[in-house]
Amino acid sequence: MNKKRILTGDRPTGKLHLGHYVGSIVNRVRLQDEYESFFIIADLHVLTTKNSKDDIFEMRQNMTEMVIDYLACGIDPAKSVIYLQSAIHAVYEMNLIFEMLTTVPRLSRLPSLKDMARAAHLNEMPFGLLGYPVLQAADILMPRAHLVPVGKDNESHVEITRELARRFNYLYGETLPVPEVLVGDVPTLVGTDGKAKMSKSLGNAILLSDDSKTVAKKIRNMYTDPKRVHADIPGTVEGNPVFVYHDAFNPDKAEIDDLKTRYRSGKVGDVEVKEKLTVAINNFLDPIREKRAEIEADSGLVEQVIYEGTVRINKEAEATLLAMKKAMGLTGNWNKISRKGRKRLEKKGSVMGETAVSQTN
Ligand code: TRP
Repeated sequence: MNKKRILTGDRPTGKLHLGHYVGSIVNRVRLQDEYESFFIIADLHVLTTKNSKDDIFEMRQNMTEMVIDYLACGIDPAKSVIYLQSAIHAVYEMNLIFEMLTTVPRLSRLPSLKDMARAAHLNEMPFGLLGYPVLQAADILMPRAHLVPVGKDNESHVEITRELARRFNYLYGETLPVPEVLVGDVPTLVGTDGKAKMSKSLGNAILLSDDSKTVAKKIRNMYTDPKRVHADIPGTVEGNPVFVYHDAFNPDKAEIDDLKTRYRSGKVGDVEVKEKLTVAINNFLDPIREKRAEIEADSGLVEQVIYEGTVRINKEAEATLLAMKKAMGLTGNWNKISRKGRKRLEKKGSVMGETAVSQTN
């Protein structure tokens, strides 16, 4: 029996952080045996807000770092496909087809797009940024994925994808599966500064590639309960970033319970809580660091993985695009010329005509 499929991925904006891990990567690694998995390096999506030549150049380096992180976390290129979005021609075409099936008000309502415009210091919404979720739908529907593991911030885009798949099937006949979203156990990881979301651009991220000293330093400076100016003042555990991270990354539940109890009753200092957290996170990151070093030493590996993955998924893309066009009745003209038309071309002996005739079906 054919396995069900996953499609997910990230914009190549740089090295990945703990938020990426708990939001989506952990699910990808866990599910790659059960599902046929496709992971997109969404470079076209970066263009929605950053598109100077320098931005694009930078993106190439970022892409390599991101794929190293994928592999270091345990995404196995022997099982899963990692590919470059901009290399897949069919996606640009699908994007156009899906653009016809949603509306400007539907897209304008999405807070995620306004957030992205604001973060990029754009006063007005670029046309392409408004279409961000439509392009994402093309990515997801291209390999006819069933499941999309993403962070909370992408949930609304998968909802748009579901609407577009349903709309397409309604207008042209059952062609595309309607995919499900899968949000990680920690849907949005708080940043080290206590702000809602860990993000590299906010400077509140712990990177998967940070060394142990950097991690120790970032944790030492972490935001905790601001009311606790002394260690003997009872503190709040709920929503406190140090405890959110303990819950997410410290496997020693008894240690966490003990810390929480003492914190609530003012019997432990932030220093101890943070030192234990540093140990836990460094233990968590150690195997990832080791794997990272191996991959970095394996020259050309990342390029090979991306190349092979892109060739592999391109076949899926062509097949789905053809199925979509057939369903729509758009296949005419190029590969189906009428008998009368073909006669004329044959008489002319045109090379273009030869190609067109031999492409019938
Ligand atoms: N929107 C994702 C991000 O926030 C990147 C992305 C593009 C994506 N296409 C996708 C994610 C398809 C899941 C599925 O970086």
